[in-house]
This record gives sequence, structure tokens and C-alpha cells, in this order.
Amino acid sequence: MKTKLMSLFFAVAAFGVCEFATRAYAAPPEGDADRGEYLVNAVMACDGCHTPRGADGNFVMEKRFSGGSQTWDEPAFLVKGANITQDPTTGIGTWSADELKSVMTEGVRPNHAPYNGVPLAPQMPFPFYKILTPRDLDAVVTYVRSVPPVRNEVQPPVYKAPMHVELIPGAEKPIDEAALGSPVKRGFYLATIAHCMECHARRPDGVYDFRNWLGKGGHEMKGPFGTVVVRNVTSHPKSGIGEWSDEEIKRSLTQGISRDGRPFKPPMARQVWFSHMAPTDLDAIVAYLRTVPPLE
Ligand code: HEC
Ligand code: HEC
Repeated sequence: MKTKLMSLFFAVAAFGVCEFATRAYAAPPEGDADRGEYLVNAVMACDGCHTPRGADGNFVMEKRFSGGSQTWDEPAFLVKGANITQDPTTGIGTWSADELKSVMTEGVRPNHAPYNGVPLAPQMPFPFYKILTPRDLDAVVTYVRSVPPVRNEVQPPVYKAPMHVELIPGAEKPIDEAALGSPVKRGFYLATIAHCMECHARRPDGVYDFRNWLGKGGHEMKGPFGTVVVRNVTSHPKSGIGEWSDEEIKRSLTQGISRDGRPFKPPMARQVWFSHMAPTDLDAIVAYLRTVPPLE
């Protein structure tokens, strides 16, 4: 299983895409580990926060999901991506599938030591996962639970102030599966679970605003790469991506490059996942982005 995982993750993009395309569309394996594997590896990008990186900046896949390298030090909390492997002491090996499901959508830990019922910092994008269909949530949880246990103690979280959770309009509850036949709705679903707006709906002061700032960008992100400002991805022709072709938008996701070919800084270098996305799913994301109201 582990080898299969890793080879899938590093599979030549073209092969990966074809394979996912047929799997996700010809006969969608909903509600099972294959569907979960697709959602996690091509769309939801749990690794970004939960898999440690080596000195070269690449993920250390032998330690997959055992805790991320990044630390978020915000006014309300100081957290690191938790160990979400099945290790019983340093990971979540003692959690049941149902407990994991409710953590993923409610953001409250089960009544277990060491964090009895303590809410998670919203750096874990659980508000974006409320929209998951029950079958997709099942699939993701089945897959996450199939990743081998790795013992690794992660620095415990520090909660400094009450944490505010912002819900995403239209994504407060599981979407009706039948709606996913519409490209725009499917695109909204995928863009939500890929948490695009976690970065693109943040104002320069860092506050999320999914109503008045949806897609506008402007938040400054800092890291070992320096500083990068999140871009405007609304349909505005000049300030946003309204004049980009469908191909240019898809290329930016699957290759991590801007319209002029410039490679993106790490927060948007998400081709490691999105290059595995099924072509129909990429088209759906484009269809949805076209409907994001223009903001200057
Ligand atoms: C943007 C970063 C980010 C992404 C993406 C992300 N997480 Fe998290 N996750 C976190 C952080 C940070 C924490 C710890 C929060 C805290 O300690 O309050 C966390 C905590 C968790 C926990 C609770 C673990 C514990 O021991 O309390 C689970 C379970 C979890 N994440 C699963 C997932 C899964 C599954 C995915 C992908 C579908 C995912 N996360 C995607 C950042 C992320
Ligand atoms: C972790 C934060 C983050 C997430 C998640 C994220 N983005 Fe981005 N995005 C950025 C940043 C930062 C940039 C600017 C990158 C640069 O200029 O190097 C960017 C740039 C872009 C651009 C290029 C715009 C331009 O004018 O060059 C597009 C298109 C885009 N993002 C779409 C998306 C979509 C669609 C998703 C979800 C499927 C997404 N992003 C998820 C942070 C993010």
C-alpha cells in the first residue's frame, strides 16, 4: 500500500491524470479508499500542512502525515499540522472513523487524552470540509486511516485567545450529490475542499471575508521563500483573471505558473496535487471561477 501510495504521488503527471480521469469519471469509485486517495492527493492537499519537508523543501514521504514542518503563529493560536497517522500515542490511532469525520467537519477533537474535546484552530480548514458529501467524507477518512502509522511527537498547540470560525456561504452543509452534475456547482465544491479561498479571500489585514472579499487576494504570505502577495482570482478582466483563457487558468493550476510563464512561489506551487486532477474536474473549477463576481 505504501509503495502504491508513493508511486501514485510521484507518478508521471500525464499518467496520473489519465488514470484519475477514468477512475473519477467513467466509474466514480465513490465512498472508497480510491476515491479518498484521489481527493486527498489531487484536490485537498492534506500533505501541505501535515507532511514534514526535508532540507530541499520536498515532502518526506516516508514520514507522511506525521506532522508538518510549518508553524502558524497567529494572534489567537500557535499551531503546527498535527500527526494524523494511525500511531496510537503521537497520532490519531485511537480515534474511530466517526470521530475523525466529526473532527474534519466540526473542528472539535474527540473526548480523548490529551486534548479532551478541545476545538481545533481554524488553520485546519475544517469549515471548508463541511460541504463534503457523506460518501466523499467516508472515502477521505478511509484513505487517511490507511496511511501507515509514524511515531512523531508534534509540538502541542497553544491557544491564546478565543478562535473565530468563519463559515463559507453556500458551503455550510454537505452538498446534494445530484448538484455535482452541474460544472459550476461541482467547481464550487472542488474549489471549496481545495480551500482556494483560505488564501484568496483573506484581506491584507489577514481577516477572512468570504462575502465581500471573495477571490480578491491582497494578503501577504511569508515563508522561507520570502514574501508573496495572494493574487486576485475574481472574474475582473484587469485586476483578476477574467481575460485569461481556460487553458491559461488550468495551466496555472497543473503547472504552477502564471499567465506569463513565471513560476509561482510555494503557496501557489500546488501542481504537486492539481496536476493529478481529472480534466473534467479542472474544467469545473474554471467554470466556477468564471462566476466569482469581479472585484477590483
Ligand atoms: C492549511 C493547512 C491544513 C490543511 C490543508 C489540512 N490541515 Fe489538518 N490540521 C492543520 C493544523 C494546523 C492542525 C492542528 C490544529 C490545532 O492544533 O489546533 C490540524 C489538525 C488536524 C486534525 C486533528 C489532529 C489532532 O491530533 O488533533 C486532523 C484529524 C486533521 N487535521 C486532518 C486533516 C486532513 C485529513 C486533511 C486533508 C483532507 C487536512 N487535515 C488538511 C492544518 C491543515
Ligand atoms: C495556500 C494559499 C493558496 C491556496 C490554497 C490557493 N492559492 Fe492561488 N495563489 C496564492 C498565492 C500566494 C498566489 C500568488 C503566487 C505568486 O505570485 O507567486 C496565487 C495565485 C493564483 C493564481 C494566479 C493569478 C495571477 O494573477 O497570477 C491563480 C489563477 C490561483 N492562485 C488560483 C487558485 C485556485 C483556483 C486555488 C484552489 C484550487 C488556489 N489558487 C489555491 C495562494 C493560494
